[in-house]
Amino acid sequence: MDDGLITPPAHEPTVAEPPSVDVVTDALRTVIDPELGSDVVTLGMIPSVEVAPDGAVTVGVKLTIGGCPMRAEIKRSIEDRISVHPGVASVKIDWGEMTPEERTAAMTTARWNARERAPETAIGERCRIVAVASGKGGVGKSSVTVNLAAGLAASGLAVGVLDADIWGFSVPRLLGVDQPLEAAEVDGRPRITPNRLPIGDGMIEVVSTGFLVEESTALMWRGLMLTKAVEQFLRDVAWGDLDYLLIDMPPGTGDVQMGLARLLPRTSLVVVTTPALAAQRVAQRAADMARRSFLPVVGVIENMSGFVCEHGEHHEVFGSGGGQALADAVGAPLLGSIPIEAALADGGDIGQPVILSSDGPAATALRAIVNRLRDEVVPMVPSTDGIDMAGCSARLLAAVETALSEADAQSAD
Ligand SMILES: Nc1ncnc2c1ncn2[C@@H]1O[C@H](COP(=O)(O)OP(=O)(O)O)[C@@H](O)[C@H]1O
Ligand SMILES: [Mg+2]
Repeated sequence: MDDGLITPPAHEPTVAEPPSVDVVTDALRTVIDPELGSDVVTLGMIPSVEVAPDGAVTVGVKLTIGGCPMRAEIKRSIEDRISVHPGVASVKIDWGEMTPEERTAAMTTARWNARERAPETAIGERCRIVAVASGKGGVGKSSVTVNLAAGLAASGLAVGVLDADIWGFSVPRLLGVDQPLEAAEVDGRPRITPNRLPIGDGMIEVVSTGFLVEESTALMWRGLMLTKAVEQFLRDVAWGDLDYLLIDMPPGTGDVQMGLARLLPRTSLVVVTTPALAAQRVAQRAADMARRSFLPVVGVIENMSGFVCEHGEHHEVFGSGGGQALADAVGAPLLGSIPIEAALADGGDIGQPVILSSDGPAATALRAIVNRLRDEVVPMVPSTDGIDMAGCSARLLAAVETALSEADAQSAD
């Protein structure tokens, strides 16, 4: 009787060989210290790699500073990059701290690397980049992007929004901005000035092809110069000193994703899904996109997850579990679930992100996601011009930079 199961031949190995130390080390070369912008191997942060015959991998990691807030993120990246190898049974990290001499050497390396790398984009080194993606359109990707941006800005941060959905743009409408983009000379070359929108103590800077073409004619531009628009927005916009750049990706997986991975390999992906979507199919697409473009998926957001009626009762309209299923499939946390709420759609229609004006369940869910992104999943890299200089490596790096440039200036006199 055929029960549909395929039994592998007995001689075929069922357990993959553990990777060599070199293979693990190469995987670690793709783990970038979010503050120093170089990989952890190059920075001398990996004193040891051991692979046991049973596939247990132990990695020694020396942090620049023991209590570094980036520690959780570095741990997650290391585990992600190593555990994808089929022969790896477990990943253990032995934490250590650099000596002052090692730290100075790491800073010098980071500084040298930063100088060597030609500035690919106009986005500052410190800026955290989060691309919001989805398997298909209509799941609320743009609404989520502008609300996260507004929430981050409301907490006093400088947030860029790049609308990379070049033919299906909706960010200008959702943020209530419609001035055409202007260009100005900056440092001797023409740059696009982003539209600026002050929010509380913070600020949103936004660019979109919607500021260049009419919504009604946008589709006619398909295949023409607009394909270069995203590249231009990354290279030629006079962005300020951003804390975050949020990118509203076009739906699906295409050229824009690949271009982004090439231009901004430090981008983290957040995937938006609805509970209704056949989780397997969409999960597969998102995971494929991440694999092919080497961009890490750092979280999943479920949108339109049920409806909270005025009695506070939760009704599942589009099914349930899609967000968690996708999160499990891509190995990233479910950052939150946003219910269906008229206020969210209405806010979009009047260009007022609901997160700024409501205490309803959707705005509350969005605020919790903003906090989780900023404090845990993609932590902000502290600005170096503050007075509080104690803490993590970026500030140390800044201190080194300042000292060296002062020395440079003195020797030039
Ligand atoms: N949680 C929600 N509750 C109510 N309406 C929503 C919600 N999320 C999105 N919408 C609405 O659904 C539509 C599609 O959302 P949009 O953000 O444009 O999706 P996408 O960018 O994925 O195509 C918009 O009309 C938007 O107002
Ligand atoms: Mg959209």
